[in-house]
Amino acid sequence: MNLLLKDKVAVVTGAASGIGAAIADRLAFHGAGVALLDINQEGLSEIQQRLEKAYNVRIRTYAADVTNYALLMETGTKIVDAFGKVDVLVNCAGGGKIPMGFRDHDADSWKKQIELNLNSVFYCCKMVMEQMILQRSGKIINISSVAGLIGGGLLGRSAYATAKAGVSGMTKALARELGDFGIHVNTIAPGLHVTPLTSIHGEDFISSVKEKLILKTAGEPEKLGELVAFLASDNSQFITGSMIVVDGGLAMH
Ligand SMILES: NC(=O)c1ccc[n+]([C@@H]2O[C@H](COP(=O)([O-])OP(=O)(O)OC[C@H]3O[C@@H](n4cnc5c(N)ncnc54)[C@H](O)[C@@H]3O)[C@@H](O)[C@H]2O)c1
Repeated sequence: MNLLLKDKVAVVTGAASGIGAAIADRLAFHGAGVALLDINQEGLSEIQQRLEKAYNVRIRTYAADVTNYALLMETGTKIVDAFGKVDVLVNCAGGGKIPMGFRDHDADSWKKQIELNLNSVFYCCKMVMEQMILQRSGKIINISSVAGLIGGGLLGRSAYATAKAGVSGMTKALARELGDFGIHVNTIAPGLHVTPLTSIHGEDFISSVKEKLILKTAGEPEKLGELVAFLASDNSQFITGSMIVVDGGLAMH
Protein backbone atom coordinates (compact mmCIF):
# COMPACT_ATOMS: atom_id res chain seq x y z
CA MET A 1 0.00 0.00 0.00
CA ASN A 2 1.31 3.45 -0.89
CA LEU A 3 0.87 5.46 2.29
CA LEU A 4 0.55 9.26 1.99
CA LEU A 5 3.20 10.00 4.64
CA LYS A 6 5.40 6.92 4.39
CA ASP A 7 8.93 7.59 5.74
CA LYS A 8 7.94 11.09 6.95
CA VAL A 9 8.69 12.23 10.49
CA ALA A 10 6.24 14.55 12.21
CA VAL A 11 6.35 16.44 15.49
CA VAL A 12 2.96 17.23 17.01
CA THR A 13 2.64 19.53 20.03
CA GLY A 14 -0.38 19.26 22.31
CA ALA A 15 -0.54 15.61 21.25
CA ALA A 16 -1.85 14.20 24.54
CA SER A 17 -5.43 15.39 24.07
CA GLY A 18 -8.18 16.57 21.75
CA ILE A 19 -7.24 17.94 18.34
CA GLY A 20 -3.49 17.28 18.75
CA ALA A 21 -4.11 13.61 19.60
CA ALA A 22 -6.43 13.26 16.58
CA ILE A 23 -3.81 14.87 14.32
CA ALA A 24 -1.13 12.50 15.62
CA ASP A 25 -3.49 9.60 14.96
CA ARG A 26 -4.12 10.60 11.35
CA LEU A 27 -0.43 11.25 10.63
CA ALA A 28 0.47 7.82 12.01
CA PHE A 29 -2.42 6.24 10.06
CA HIS A 30 -0.91 7.67 6.88
CA GLY A 31 2.47 6.15 7.72
CA ALA A 32 4.43 8.91 9.47
CA GLY A 33 6.65 8.34 12.49
CA VAL A 34 5.44 10.76 15.13
CA ALA A 35 7.16 12.61 17.97
CA LEU A 36 4.40 13.42 20.45
CA LEU A 37 5.09 16.49 22.58
CA ASP A 38 3.00 17.73 25.51
CA ILE A 39 3.27 18.65 29.19
CA ASN A 40 1.00 15.73 30.03
CA GLN A 41 3.31 12.68 30.10
CA GLU A 42 0.58 10.30 31.19
CA GLY A 43 -1.65 11.34 28.30
CA LEU A 44 1.28 11.02 25.90
CA SER A 45 2.01 7.45 27.02
CA GLU A 46 -1.61 6.45 26.42
CA ILE A 47 -1.60 7.91 22.90
CA GLN A 48 1.77 6.32 22.17
CA GLN A 49 0.50 2.85 23.12
CA ARG A 50 -2.67 3.28 21.07
CA LEU A 51 -0.88 4.49 17.93
CA GLU A 52 1.93 1.91 18.05
CA LYS A 53 -0.62 -0.85 18.36
CA ALA A 54 -2.87 0.48 15.61
CA TYR A 55 -0.39 1.55 12.93
CA ASN A 56 2.99 -0.10 13.44
CA VAL A 57 4.91 3.17 13.06
CA ARG A 58 7.57 4.73 15.26
CA ILE A 59 6.09 6.82 18.06
CA ARG A 60 8.14 8.62 20.73
CA THR A 61 6.97 10.90 23.53
CA TYR A 62 8.59 14.11 24.70
CA ALA A 63 7.34 15.72 27.89
CA ALA A 64 7.96 19.42 27.39
CA ASP A 65 6.31 22.74 28.04
CA VAL A 66 5.96 24.68 24.78
CA THR A 67 6.71 27.91 26.64
CA ASN A 68 10.11 26.62 27.80
CA TYR A 69 12.46 27.70 25.01
CA ALA A 70 15.62 26.12 26.43
CA LEU A 71 13.91 22.78 27.02
CA LEU A 72 12.47 22.83 23.49
CA MET A 73 15.91 23.34 21.98
CA GLU A 74 17.13 20.24 23.87
CA THR A 75 14.01 18.35 22.83
CA GLY A 76 14.58 19.23 19.17
CA THR A 77 18.04 17.69 19.37
CA LYS A 78 16.62 14.55 21.01
CA ILE A 79 13.97 14.21 18.30
CA VAL A 80 16.54 14.47 15.49
CA ASP A 81 18.80 11.98 17.32
CA ALA A 82 15.89 9.52 17.55
CA PHE A 83 14.31 9.95 14.12
CA GLY A 84 17.19 11.32 12.00
CA LYS A 85 15.11 14.17 10.54
CA VAL A 86 11.95 16.26 10.89
CA ASP A 87 9.62 16.65 7.90
CA VAL A 88 6.54 18.07 9.60
CA LEU A 89 5.81 20.24 12.62
CA VAL A 90 2.24 20.71 13.83
CA ASN A 91 1.90 23.44 16.45
CA CYS A 92 -1.29 22.51 18.26
CA ALA A 93 -0.60 23.00 21.99
CA GLY A 94 -2.58 25.92 23.32
CA GLY A 95 -5.72 26.99 25.09
CA GLY A 96 -5.32 27.75 28.77
CA LYS A 97 -7.87 29.72 30.75
CA ILE A 98 -9.37 31.37 27.71
CA PRO A 99 -12.69 33.08 28.50
CA MET A 100 -11.24 36.33 29.80
CA GLY A 101 -12.02 39.83 28.56
CA PHE A 102 -9.53 42.69 28.37
CA ARG A 103 -10.94 44.07 31.62
CA ASP A 104 -10.24 40.78 33.41
CA HIS A 105 -6.57 40.69 32.45
CA ASP A 106 -3.57 42.18 34.17
CA ALA A 107 -0.09 42.25 32.64
CA ASP A 108 0.85 38.82 34.00
CA SER A 109 -2.24 36.92 32.85
CA TRP A 110 -2.01 38.65 29.46
CA LYS A 111 1.63 37.64 29.04
CA LYS A 112 0.82 34.03 30.00
CA GLN A 113 -1.84 33.78 27.29
CA ILE A 114 0.43 35.32 24.64
CA GLU A 115 3.28 33.08 25.77
CA LEU A 116 1.16 29.90 25.47
CA ASN A 117 -0.81 30.72 22.32
CA LEU A 118 1.63 32.81 20.27
CA ASN A 119 5.24 32.82 21.49
CA SER A 120 5.22 29.02 21.88
CA VAL A 121 4.63 28.70 18.13
CA PHE A 122 7.80 30.70 17.48
CA TYR A 123 9.74 28.60 20.03
CA CYS A 124 8.58 25.30 18.50
CA CYS A 125 9.40 26.53 14.98
CA LYS A 126 12.90 27.37 16.24
CA MET A 127 13.09 23.83 17.62
CA VAL A 128 12.99 22.32 14.10
CA MET A 129 13.76 25.20 11.73
CA GLU A 130 17.51 24.69 11.28
CA GLN A 131 17.01 20.97 10.71
CA MET A 132 14.39 21.68 8.02
CA ILE A 133 16.70 24.26 6.42
CA LEU A 134 19.46 21.65 6.37
CA GLN A 135 17.07 19.21 4.69
CA ARG A 136 15.84 21.89 2.27
CA SER A 137 12.26 20.80 2.93
CA GLY A 138 9.58 20.87 5.60
CA LYS A 139 5.93 21.50 6.40
CA ILE A 140 4.90 23.62 9.34
CA ILE A 141 1.20 23.65 10.21
CA ASN A 142 0.02 26.06 12.89
CA ILE A 143 -3.32 25.53 14.60
CA SER A 144 -4.79 28.95 15.34
CA SER A 145 -8.52 29.58 15.90
CA VAL A 146 -11.49 31.24 14.30
CA ALA A 147 -11.31 33.47 17.40
CA GLY A 148 -8.31 35.13 15.79
CA LEU A 149 -10.41 36.10 12.78
CA ILE A 150 -13.47 37.54 14.46
CA GLY A 151 -12.05 38.99 17.68
CA GLY A 152 -13.05 36.00 19.79
CA GLY A 153 -16.59 34.78 19.75
CA LEU A 154 -17.20 31.25 21.00
CA LEU A 155 -14.84 30.87 23.93
CA GLY A 156 -11.55 32.68 23.52
CA ARG A 157 -11.50 36.44 23.68
CA SER A 158 -9.00 39.27 24.24
CA ALA A 159 -5.53 37.78 24.74
CA TYR A 160 -6.45 34.40 23.21
CA ALA A 161 -8.00 36.01 20.11
CA THR A 162 -5.04 38.37 19.84
CA ALA A 163 -2.53 35.52 20.11
CA LYS A 164 -4.35 33.38 17.54
CA ALA A 165 -4.50 36.32 15.10
CA GLY A 166 -0.77 36.66 15.65
CA VAL A 167 -0.27 33.02 14.68
CA SER A 168 -1.75 33.73 11.23
CA GLY A 169 0.56 36.73 10.85
CA MET A 170 3.57 34.70 11.96
CA THR A 171 2.62 31.97 9.48
CA LYS A 172 2.79 34.41 6.57
CA ALA A 173 6.06 35.97 7.70
CA LEU A 174 7.63 32.55 8.22
CA ALA A 175 6.34 31.29 4.87
CA ARG A 176 8.06 34.24 3.19
CA GLU A 177 11.36 33.69 5.01
CA LEU A 178 11.49 29.91 4.69
CA GLY A 179 10.09 29.44 1.17
CA ASP A 180 13.55 29.55 -0.41
CA PHE A 181 14.46 26.51 1.69
CA GLY A 182 11.51 24.46 0.47
CA ILE A 183 9.66 24.89 3.75
CA HIS A 184 5.89 25.44 3.60
CA VAL A 185 4.10 27.17 6.47
CA ASN A 186 0.31 27.21 6.76
CA THR A 187 -2.37 27.85 9.35
CA ILE A 188 -5.55 25.95 10.11
CA ALA A 189 -8.12 28.04 11.99
CA PRO A 190 -10.65 25.71 13.64
CA GLY A 191 -14.03 26.68 14.98
CA LEU A 192 -15.94 24.52 17.47
CA HIS A 193 -14.54 21.01 17.90
CA VAL A 194 -15.66 18.91 20.86
CA THR A 195 -12.55 18.20 22.93
CA PRO A 196 -11.68 18.43 26.65
CA LEU A 197 -11.03 22.16 26.07
CA THR A 198 -14.59 22.86 24.94
CA SER A 199 -16.61 20.09 26.59
CA ILE A 200 -15.91 21.41 30.11
CA HIS A 201 -18.38 24.18 29.24
CA GLY A 202 -21.21 21.62 29.07
CA GLU A 203 -23.75 20.32 26.57
CA ASP A 204 -25.95 23.43 26.66
CA PHE A 205 -23.05 25.65 25.71
CA ILE A 206 -21.96 23.34 22.88
CA SER A 207 -25.56 23.21 21.55
CA SER A 208 -25.91 26.99 21.68
CA VAL A 209 -22.70 27.40 19.69
CA LYS A 210 -23.77 24.83 17.09
CA GLU A 211 -26.99 26.81 16.55
CA LYS A 212 -24.90 29.83 15.47
CA LEU A 213 -23.16 27.88 12.72
CA ILE A 214 -24.36 27.47 9.14
CA LEU A 215 -23.74 23.73 9.35
CA LYS A 216 -25.30 23.42 12.86
CA THR A 217 -22.76 20.85 13.95
CA ALA A 218 -19.32 20.66 15.59
CA GLY A 219 -16.14 19.81 13.73
CA GLU A 220 -14.66 16.34 14.16
CA PRO A 221 -11.01 16.37 15.30
CA GLU A 222 -10.28 13.31 13.07
CA LYS A 223 -11.39 15.24 9.97
CA LEU A 224 -9.13 18.12 10.97
CA GLY A 225 -6.37 15.51 11.28
CA GLU A 226 -6.98 14.46 7.69
CA LEU A 227 -6.59 18.07 6.57
CA VAL A 228 -3.29 18.25 8.44
CA ALA A 229 -2.19 15.01 6.75
CA PHE A 230 -2.93 16.58 3.37
CA LEU A 231 -0.96 19.75 4.21
CA ALA A 232 1.88 17.57 5.54
CA SER A 233 2.02 15.56 2.34
CA ASP A 234 3.59 16.26 -1.03
CA ASN A 235 0.10 17.01 -2.38
CA SER A 236 0.26 20.47 -0.80
CA GLN A 237 3.22 21.31 -3.07
CA PHE A 238 1.79 24.74 -4.10
CA ILE A 239 0.30 25.84 -0.77
CA THR A 240 2.16 28.11 1.63
CA GLY A 241 1.34 31.19 3.73
CA SER A 242 -2.32 30.15 3.64
CA MET A 243 -4.99 29.83 6.24
CA ILE A 244 -7.71 27.19 6.00
CA VAL A 245 -10.74 27.96 8.14
CA VAL A 246 -12.62 24.92 9.49
CA ASP A 247 -15.53 26.44 11.38
CA GLY A 248 -18.86 25.22 9.97
CA GLY A 249 -19.39 28.60 8.34
CA LEU A 250 -19.05 30.86 11.40
CA ALA A 251 -16.60 33.39 9.99
CA MET A 252 -17.13 32.73 6.27
CA HIS A 253 -13.61 34.00 5.75
N1 LIG B 1 -11.46 22.63 20.46
C1 LIG B 1 -11.81 23.69 19.77
O1 LIG B 1 -13.00 23.95 19.52
C2 LIG B 1 -10.75 24.61 19.23
C3 LIG B 1 -11.16 25.65 18.37
C4 LIG B 1 -10.20 26.52 17.87
C5 LIG B 1 -8.87 26.33 18.17
N2 LIG B 1 -8.50 25.32 18.99
C6 LIG B 1 -7.07 25.18 19.27
O2 LIG B 1 -6.68 23.85 19.01
C7 LIG B 1 -5.60 23.49 19.87
C8 LIG B 1 -5.95 22.20 20.62
O3 LIG B 1 -7.11 22.41 21.37
P1 LIG B 1 -7.96 21.21 22.00
O4 LIG B 1 -9.37 21.59 21.93
O5 LIG B 1 -7.50 19.93 21.43
O6 LIG B 1 -7.51 21.34 23.54
P2 LIG B 1 -7.10 20.24 24.62
O7 LIG B 1 -7.14 20.97 25.91
O8 LIG B 1 -7.93 19.01 24.45
O9 LIG B 1 -5.60 19.89 24.23
C9 LIG B 1 -4.57 20.81 24.39
C10 LIG B 1 -3.29 20.04 24.66
O10 LIG B 1 -2.23 21.00 24.78
C11 LIG B 1 -1.43 20.64 25.90
N3 LIG B 1 -0.76 21.81 26.44
C12 LIG B 1 -1.33 22.86 27.05
N4 LIG B 1 -0.39 23.72 27.48
C13 LIG B 1 0.80 23.19 27.11
C14 LIG B 1 2.14 23.60 27.29
N5 LIG B 1 2.45 24.73 27.93
N6 LIG B 1 3.12 22.82 26.78
C15 LIG B 1 2.83 21.65 26.14
N7 LIG B 1 1.58 21.21 25.97
C16 LIG B 1 0.57 21.97 26.46
C17 LIG B 1 -2.40 20.04 26.90
O11 LIG B 1 -1.75 19.24 27.87
C18 LIG B 1 -3.33 19.26 25.99
O12 LIG B 1 -2.87 17.94 25.79
C19 LIG B 1 -5.38 24.69 20.80
O13 LIG B 1 -4.31 25.46 20.27
C20 LIG B 1 -6.68 25.45 20.70
O14 LIG B 1 -6.50 26.82 20.96
C21 LIG B 1 -9.40 24.46 19.53
